[in-house]
Formats: sequence, structure tokens, C-alpha cells
Amino acid sequence: MPVIDIHNHFFPRTWPDLAARYGTPSWPWIKHTEVGKAEIIVGDRFFRQIYSACWDAEVRLNEMDRDGVEMQVLSATPVLFAYERPVDHALDCATLFNDAALELCAQGKGRLKSFCQVPLQGIDAACKELSRCMRAGHLGVQIGNHVGEKNLDDPGIVTFLHHCADESAAVLVHPWDMLAPQRMPKYMMPWTVGMPAETQLGIVAMILSGAFDKLPQKLRICFAHGGGSFAFLLGRLENAWHNHAVAHGICEFPPSQYLNRFFVDSAVFDERALQFLVGTMGTDRVMLGSDYPFPLGEHRVGTLIRSSQFAAPAKDRLLGGNAEEFLDLAREKSSATSEGGSAEPDKTVMPHGEQLTYSSYLKVPELLNLQHSQSSPQHHDELLFIIVHQTYELWFKELLHDLDAVVANLRAAGANPQSRDEVYEAARLLRRCTEITRVLVEQFTILETMLPTHFMAFRGKLEPASGFQSEQFRELEFLCGLKDEKMLRYHRPTAEAHALLERRLREPSLHDVFFDALRTMGKLRFVDKATERERFDARARAVLALYRDERSHRDWIDVCERLTEFDELVVSWRLRHIQLVERVIGVRMGTGGSAGSSYLKLTLDKKFFPELWEARTLLTE
Ligand code: HEM
Repeated sequence: MPVIDIHNHFFPRTWPDLAARYGTPSWPWIKHTEVGKAEIIVGDRFFRQIYSACWDAEVRLNEMDRDGVEMQVLSATPVLFAYERPVDHALDCATLFNDAALELCAQGKGRLKSFCQVPLQGIDAACKELSRCMRAGHLGVQIGNHVGEKNLDDPGIVTFLHHCADESAAVLVHPWDMLAPQRMPKYMMPWTVGMPAETQLGIVAMILSGAFDKLPQKLRICFAHGGGSFAFLLGRLENAWHNHAVAHGICEFPPSQYLNRFFVDSAVFDERALQFLVGTMGTDRVMLGSDYPFPLGEHRVGTLIRSSQFAAPAKDRLLGGNAEEFLDLAREKSSATSEGGSAEPDKTVMPHGEQLTYSSYLKVPELLNLQHSQSSPQHHDELLFIIVHQTYELWFKELLHDLDAVVANLRAAGANPQSRDEVYEAARLLRRCTEITRVLVEQFTILETMLPTHFMAFRGKLEPASGFQSEQFRELEFLCGLKDEKMLRYHRPTAEAHALLERRLREPSLHDVFFDALRTMGKLRFVDKATERERFDARARAVLALYRDERSHRDWIDVCERLTEFDELVVSWRLRHIQLVERVIGVRMGTGGSAGSSYLKLTLDKKFFPELWEARTLLTE
């Protein structure tokens, strides 16, 4: 997997005197001080010391070799954005630097690529320059997180982002022109405090304004410096969203539902911060970004990710795999190949864009290459064993996806008890969950075609891997409300799984959200100092009240029925799993160190929604 750095900067060795060219003051310029060293000056004010890596491809390539970086996507430094100037000046300046970037890339032996910049204060001009740059070979655009008073949710900027999606241009959002400069005059505070806040502001503005709802899914957008303070303060934002109508914005879903709409880079400079960031955003949303070659950048690019505790496949994604997707490199390569001569491009090797095929869309070759046996020579049944487990994991993924949407709908239903739509939608999605779980219960029979002796032939090779380590199964339990913190210990070796499960532990569960909704509807009441038993009884009585007033609460009763059925089916899953275990290994210990089937039998009493069952007892009283 190539290592790709998506956030680093360049400066041309020389450029014209922009102040003289436009007759306006305070333009940046470069002052060479000694061989290989220079200063950026803005007007007559010193801005930053830089060195030859900024303009010399040879120096860059040597340092990339030193750091094991295969490709850099370079962008101008934000001091050149010129958003506060007349559009034609900013456009001219952008053109100058965009062409200079391509000149530098041309000396980069295919390892240097670039993002352009645009005059974002003039949307038409910005769109035109973006289109020109994409044709000329840029991979996307770097934009500032605001244009004067306008945040990224400004309708003009949203139009521009739409255009980026249409042009298949990746977008890197960089903070600039930091807030409250009069309160941060010293100590580089605009960089250390202002920049993270600016970036967070950019993301929050896009979420709450519904910009992500309006923009197409195909928009590929990344926020620099790990997204600033966003990940760390997401909990605060989410809490405000749920509890203050005014903080709600006009987005369709709670903020945490938008994490799959954007990327962030890894420039956070602290392993715990990176772990938290990846735990929050997911391994497929964070990309290597270094801020090279500036003093605030990572000094040995990639060290933070390489020395982290993530498993090798996750590191591969962070170091380059995600960037390949973000930059749509497969498409870029295929268009370069087709431009390279062949009149009739080979459609079968074009995995993206217009030439989409069944196989490229579904990633069939990758999928079929994911079954690696431990037995050697491969035992015939090990393939079945792997495929059955992988299928379960895929369905677990879909269940998590749907249950997260159920949570979002029930939350919205609780926030607006007059509206019925969200309750119907929650019931509809829950029906899908029960149908999937029904399939999961049935699927064990396939594995039961494997003789116990055949399993024994390769079981020894699987230790200490165990179902206890199924991260998604535990996520499902935590999400539905069965939160047993002790189970986290099985995920200690995988930092990202651990962080994700810790997040699920903290977040309100489906159980919480369901009863919160009944509470806001006035169906559920208990005093703050009520004991756990009293609360449980109150919840069961709230459900009872729904069933007793069927005519008014058909929609909520439907949700209750679906939740009950889901609970029932998960118990069936547990039971069928135990039967399979006994059929294959009898009462032997598990590879995860438990007592095997006798341990698993203890889990049969677990229920996600015990109050729904209690209500049935109350109904018959
Ligand atoms: C030959 C087939 C299987 C055997 C012998 C088996 C055995 C076991 C055993 C003994 C345990 C207890 C933990 C331990 O000590 O390792 C366990 C847990 C688990 N297994 Fe399986 N298993 C099999 C197939 C499956 C399949 C197909 C799945 C599908 C995902 C699965 C998912 C799980 C899960 C999620 C747990 C944790 C359950 C909990 O904590 O409540 N197992 N398995």
C-alpha cells in the first residue's frame, strides 16, 4: 500500500511582485536569505521561515525517500488565498500559483501531485478555475474554512462544493484568517488555538445547516489538522443537539450521523489523540497529513501512524489506502492511461466513474480475496468456516447501520411527538433488523454440515482467536443497551476497536432513546431519586399504557412489537449458537478461554428490552 501525504505545502522559488502588479499593499512575497533558505514576508511583516523543500522537487523527493512517503499532494499556503481582495486579483493570483504547483509536480517523477486554490469570494470564477485546474492535472482544491463572514454553509460555497463533486475534485479544507486576533496576539495562539476552533466551526456549520444533506454523497471532502477540535467536542455538540431545540440546526440527523461524509487528516501530533480520532471517525476516514515542510508539521512524516498501536491493515488505510479513495487515484490512473494513447480505453480495467461495472462497484475481486486459511494445506471445510463468519460480520454491519438509523428516528420522534413519520420509519427499519436476524439464526445450519472431526483438524490453528473478539457483535449489544464494560478486555489488543466500543458504551443506547422518547411524550414519569427497580417498573408501566390505548398508539405499539421480536430473535441466535457449539465441540472450553457451552448458556437470559416483556405480565394481571 503506497504511503500518501495529503496535507503539505509548497512555495514557488520566485513569483512576481503582486503589490506592484495589482497596486494594492500587503501581498506575500519571498525573500531568499541564504542558499536553500528564505522568508515569507507579508507586506513588510515577517511571516515564516522556509527552506528549499518548499520549491525544490529534488529536496522534497529525498526527504520523502527518507520518510518512506511515496506520494505527496501539495497545496499553497493559506496566506495566499486572497479571499478578501477583488475577485480578478485573487483569480490571477490563484492561476499563478496553480500553474507553479503543476510545474513543481512535473519534476516530481510522478510522486508529486497538487491541489489548486480558487477565488472563493467569487463562485463563478472559483468554479471555472477549478474546472480548468482539474483538466490541467490537479487532483482537487484546497479551500479556506471561511470567506470573511461566510462559513462553509454559505449557499455560494455549497454551490462550489457541488461543482467539486461534479468535477470529481477532492476538497481539502484548511483553517485560515483566525478568529479573535486581538485576543491572540502572541505565542502563535492563532495557530495552536485559533486553527482547531476554525476547523471545528467549518464542520459544525456544514452539519447543522443541512449542507451535507444537500450535497451529493460523492463529494470527497477532508478537514485538516484532524478536523481541529471537532472529534473531541462531538459529544458536546450531540448533547446540545438532543436537548436544545435552538442547537438543532436544520440537519436531518444528529451530528454523529455525518461522520461518514468527510475525512480528516492525521496531523494531531499525539498518539492518544490519534487513537481517539480514529475511534471517533473510523479507520476509513483518517488520512496521513503532515503539514510538511513547515515547522508546525510532522518532522518525520508518517511516524505518528507507524508507531501507533493500530493493527497493520488499519495502518495501511491511514497511511495511504484512504487517500487513494479520497483522491480517486484509480480514476486518475485510468484517465492518464487512456490519455496516454489507446484510442479505445480498456473498459474492463476502469474501476470508477462512468465505466462502473458490477465487479468494480461491489469490489468482487477484493472480496473474493479475503479468505485466508490457517491450515496448510488448506482443510476443505476451513473455507466454509471463514465464509460463514464473514457473512455474519457483514450482516452485523448492516444491523448496526440500521439500528443507528432507528436510534436517530426515535430521537427525532421524541423531540417532536406530533410527528408520526419517524416512528413509522423506526418500525420499518426494525422490521429489516428482525428479518436479517432471522437469516442469522438459520445460517448456523450451513456450518453444521461440517463434521466435528473436520473442525478438529484445523481448530488448533485458530487459537486464541474467539467469538469474544467480534467487535461488531459487542457493538450491537452495547448499542441496544446491554453494556458490560468487562467485555472491553477482549479488545485491548486492537486500539481502534477498543476506542469504538468505549464510544458505544458512553453513547445513549437504543433502550435509552426509546424510553427517553416515551418520557418526552409524557408516558413515562419517575422522580429523580427513584431507585433502579422503581424506574424499571415505571418503564414497564409506560409500555403497558401504550398497549392499553391501542387506538392512539398503533405506531408506537408497532415499534414495541418489532423490538420485542428482535429481542426474541437474538435469544434464538444465542440458543442456535450454543447448539452448534455443542454439536461441534461438545462441552469443551472455548478458544477464548471460557467454559464453552455452559458459559454461553448463562447469556440466554440476556434481554435488550426486559420492560417490554414485563409489560406483558402486567397486561395479564
Ligand atoms: C464451529 C463453530 C463455532 C464454535 C465451536 C464456536 C464456539 C464458541 C465458544 C466456545 C464461545 C465462547 C467464547 C470462547 O471461549 O471462545 C463462542 C462465543 C462466540 N461466538 Fe462462536 N462458535 C462457533 C461459530 C460461531 C459463528 C458462526 C459465529 C458468528 C458470528 C460465532 C460468534 C460468536 C460470538 C459473537 C461469541 C461471543 C458470544 C457472547 O459473548 O455472548 N460463533 N463461540
